[in-house]
Amino acid sequence: MNTHIHFTPPPHQFSSPTHRKKKKMSPLLHLILFSLLLTTPVEPTDPPFSCGDPTSSNFCNPSLPIAVRSSDLVARLTLDEKISQLGNTAPAIPRLGVPAYQWWSESLHGVADSGPGIHFNGPIHFATSFPQVILSAASFNPSLWYRIGVAIGDEARALYNAGQAQGMTFWAPNINVFRDPRWGRGQETPGEDPGMASKYAVSYVRGLQGDSFAGDVSAEHLKASACCKHFTAYDLENWHGQTRYTFDAQVSAQDMADTYQPPFQSCVEEGKASGIMCSYNKVNGVPTCADYGLLSRTARNAWGFNGYITSDCDAVSIIHDAQGYAKTPEDAIADVLKAGMDVNCGKYLQNYTKSAVQQGKVSMGDIDRALHNLFSIRMRLGLFNGNPKQHRFGHIATSNVCSSKHQFLALEVARDGIVLLKNSANLLPLSKARTGSLAVIGPNANNPSVLLGNYHGPPCGSVSPLQALQSRAMNTHYLAGCDSVACGTASIGEAVGLAKTADYVVLIMGLDQTQEKEELDRVSLLLPGMQQSLITSVANAAKRPVILVLLSGGPVDVTFAKYNPKIGAILWGGYPGQAGGVALAEVIFGEHNPGGRLPVTWYPESFTKVPMTDMQMRPDPASGFPGRTYRFYNGPVVFKFGYGLSYSNYAYEFISVTQNQVYLNKSDSLYAVEKSGSIRYNAAKMGSDACETLRFSAVVGVKNNGSMQGRHPVLLFLRWPDVRRGSPLKKLVGFESVHLKAGERAEVEFNLRPCEHLSRADEDGMHMLDVGSHFLEVGDEKHELTVLA
Ligand SMILES: *[C@@H]1O[C@H](CO)[C@@H](O)[C@H](O)[C@H]1NC(C)=O
Ligand SMILES: *[C@@H]1O[C@H](CO)[C@@H](O)[C@H](O)[C@H]1NC(C)=O
Ligand SMILES: *[C@@H]1O[C@H](CO)[C@@H](O)[C@H](O)[C@H]1NC(C)=O
Repeated sequence: MNTHIHFTPPPHQFSSPTHRKKKKMSPLLHLILFSLLLTTPVEPTDPPFSCGDPTSSNFCNPSLPIAVRSSDLVARLTLDEKISQLGNTAPAIPRLGVPAYQWWSESLHGVADSGPGIHFNGPIHFATSFPQVILSAASFNPSLWYRIGVAIGDEARALYNAGQAQGMTFWAPNINVFRDPRWGRGQETPGEDPGMASKYAVSYVRGLQGDSFAGDVSAEHLKASACCKHFTAYDLENWHGQTRYTFDAQVSAQDMADTYQPPFQSCVEEGKASGIMCSYNKVNGVPTCADYGLLSRTARNAWGFNGYITSDCDAVSIIHDAQGYAKTPEDAIADVLKAGMDVNCGKYLQNYTKSAVQQGKVSMGDIDRALHNLFSIRMRLGLFNGNPKQHRFGHIATSNVCSSKHQFLALEVARDGIVLLKNSANLLPLSKARTGSLAVIGPNANNPSVLLGNYHGPPCGSVSPLQALQSRAMNTHYLAGCDSVACGTASIGEAVGLAKTADYVVLIMGLDQTQEKEELDRVSLLLPGMQQSLITSVANAAKRPVILVLLSGGPVDVTFAKYNPKIGAILWGGYPGQAGGVALAEVIFGEHNPGGRLPVTWYPESFTKVPMTDMQMRPDPASGFPGRTYRFYNGPVVFKFGYGLSYSNYAYEFISVTQNQVYLNKSDSLYAVEKSGSIRYNAAKMGSDACETLRFSAVVGVKNNGSMQGRHPVLLFLRWPDVRRGSPLKKLVGFESVHLKAGERAEVEFNLRPCEHLSRADEDGMHMLDVGSHFLEVGDEKHELTVLA
């Protein structure tokens, strides 16, 4: 399969570092190698490491603190050696026994080969490909996200131990809030809710880095290093000629505080991520990689970030070339090093740091600080402790990669993510015994690579939805129906003919990476080309209502299908990964009861009149701007955030709420009285002790009132009394996934911290509590909660 999406640099940049020269080989050598390959498996090689002799120097001595060791190493380097280390491809320093290192590796939803750090031409040829993140998010299950992180970290370490990694720094997770439904990389994210993105970040990072789910292990030793990206307010690729390389995101302090920053703050403070990537875009006029306030004051000082900061690929050169923010390359180097960035993806720092030093724009202290951060990470990964095979993570064997446990996890996540959007007259599940003949139609039915989304590695194996359906319904007939997912031409007549003869019809439609990807935002939310005509014609001709399966990362406007009675069922499968074909067939035939819920709002096409470049979250009645995401958007929806059906139905009740009233202690410095007479409290100034004392819990009863067991995420929202002051309409304050047998009931306890859960940002970006009545909501159940001063 050859569908890997590599980063393509903008045309004026250097060629991608993934491009490596191949040495010419003699035909005889070819022949020998070829016969060797046929007869013997490839033996693992030793991973690159330093410090075979721990007594040789302080930097090699594992009993010394990391800070002492990395300072010792930095002090031994010449200026040229130092500068050589400031790019993602860091060469060896042979006189000190320091091996070469690759900072760039990818592991968005499985170890990938989209960066130069990992290769698959050793004993390990594959890696488990979990669902694309947007579908994993739909499970609303942090323990599942944690287990994905653990599995990826283990596979990464196994690849390293087998000599197939030149780096252990992975540039995942992507935790930018999925602000606009057209964003080509929204598929890589956990969706539109900042609180949920925060939970995803923490769970994934702890899993990948080798910490416990509760995060209580010393974060000094890293199994693999995670990177919170793209810092910050990055969520536009290329929309009507506005590109990510030059886009200047205008973000208010208010939106920054309660939308754009929270996932990054959690990723750093709770997840203890060891990496951050600054983005291409500018925020309020300043390139993020050159923003001291962002990288140093906020991340390092306010949040206590302990790790390295990389630029996105070529993001330093563009500060001069494309953005013209820096007058000379040397000014760009000074801007980023003084802001607190440590390593550049690309060669720009390696090329221009020396002249920047000579011009007095960069000091040795700036460079040493960066190197100190960089070598500290390599040391925390155990790469300066002698042969890492003999250390902490050396036991992680090749057999972990694509283990049956990991492959089953990939299936479990796909099952738990798939969302049932419509199921009229209980059309689904189909019965294997009574299905008769099945027509499977659609450009996404038989292409296993579509299931993988972007930033994937070679999967352990994959089965298309068609193949999985065929193995359950023997009398299955297939037609692609469109020339491609773009569906410029459709064979509607043929599809109608096939549909007429079949007892049941499954249409497998949607998007793929030709429609939404890195550097490609959509301009329409409708299905591409003739897909809609094909679906409608087939549905009208079929004997029974048809089943529509949508594969996509971003939402699509399928209003036509929602209201067409001939379309009986709709399933959304994201890009479900290597096991996604099987999971879809299991759901269709009732072997699994779907329980996923949408992690993003599905907007109607009319939303596209909103400029994608408008970063505002809150509605603006004056301009008609409708606001964004379920927290603020006040227009009509196709399907709302959190929507998802099941083959069971679940009934909720509020069992108890320890406090129906939250009393705030009136004190001048903490509250402000507004013109309307309403009062808001400054949660930021209250202090953590005062905040702690306000904690309360809400217990919700949930019952599976259907006849099928199932997993069901319970979502608890807080609804505001009014939205006059820029407060959200509502906010997700807790979620938990429970498994319930038919008829079974459970109680879920949510712990609520008012300063966090009941607060929203004011115009200055301060977290405020609004005095007045609020409602806790689960399903249609409401519980009044009053905040009193
Ligand atoms: C860095 O220098 C090399 C060698 O002179 C050149 O080929 C490359 O284009 C430069 N890259 C950048 C990003 O300046
Ligand atoms: C309210 O706050 C003030 C000032 O911090 C403190 O002295 C007082 O004890 C508090 N009262 C209550 C009831 O907590
Ligand atoms: C439980 O299911 C039954 C049968 O479908 C229905 O009559 C009843 O109203 C449901 N109860 C709740 C609380 O939803």
